[in-house]
Amino acid sequence: MNHFLDIHKTDPDALRLIIDQGVAMKQARADRPKGTPDDEQPLAGRMVALIFEKPSTRTRVSFDVGVRQMGGETMVLSGSDMQLGHGETIADTARVLSRYVDMIMIRTFDESVLTEMAEYADVPVINGLTDRTHPCQIMADVMTFEEHRGPIKGKKVVWTGDGNNVCASFLHAAGQFGFDMTFAGPPQLDPEAEFVGFARDRGSKIVIERDAAKAVDGADLIVADTWVSMHDAQSARERRHNLLRPYQVNDALVAKAKPDALFMHCLPAHREEEVTSSVMDGPHSVIFDEAENRLHAQKAIMRWCLGV
Ligand code: CP
Ligand code: NVA
Repeated sequence: MNHFLDIHKTDPDALRLIIDQGVAMKQARADRPKGTPDDEQPLAGRMVALIFEKPSTRTRVSFDVGVRQMGGETMVLSGSDMQLGHGETIADTARVLSRYVDMIMIRTFDESVLTEMAEYADVPVINGLTDRTHPCQIMADVMTFEEHRGPIKGKKVVWTGDGNNVCASFLHAAGQFGFDMTFAGPPQLDPEAEFVGFARDRGSKIVIERDAAKAVDGADLIVADTWVSMHDAQSARERRHNLLRPYQVNDALVAKAKPDALFMHCLPAHREEEVTSSVMDGPHSVIFDEAENRLHAQKAIMRWCLGV
């Protein structure tokens, strides 16, 4: 049994295996209707709890569909409706859920909720996003990049905007998959030193750049995310927008990257804020392949967690 808590906590060989299996499982389904089961049913007879303490479209639907395609069943739980949201400890919740279900996916606020759940659960726990990281997203992003451009090793990824949870998992992936990354954003919103340090310690070139135009020079991939994350105070919205406006991904910025650079965004996007519609819907964008690959990458993650 394996937990999938973070990219830096998962062995690079396991990460590679997951990506390759995600690709293989995607190919095996090819043009099948989404509601049809896979030929292989590794989750037959298994129940997966999907817990959400924050809103979600992609994570919720892709996990639910993924489990069903592999023959399992799901229950989607909202944190506030559970006793978890009314004072029951995470440890007790983990022990109880382990008696009912075979795997737990949780989207929560504080990372300690995830790690405590994993510590006390007897079943695999998967990180469906915390305030600090979003590893399932970046597994799908690596898969998407490689699907379009081949191995990501040695490539240059440019993160634009807020050094947030998604950026953190990208930095972990830089270290584990061996690519370089430039962060283009204001100093007030730099990624945590721990995340940058992890990637640098593993030999990735990580550059912190204040000028977005300089940052994208030679970029193989440009990534954007919302300027105000779910865990950010709405009162900080205006300040964040003012700080981040120079980092908008628009046609002029993309034109300064490599001619075949890709554009990614984990979604949901705020069109004309962090990215223009012309880029989202333009020739460099792979955002909907990226969203689709959440399904395939997570199916491989779940199989790895259960060893099936
Ligand atoms: N990208 C992502 O995790 O989307 P949701 O918030 O819709 O799950
Ligand atoms: N950074 C965003 C990602 C959403 C999928 C958030 O945490 O709200």
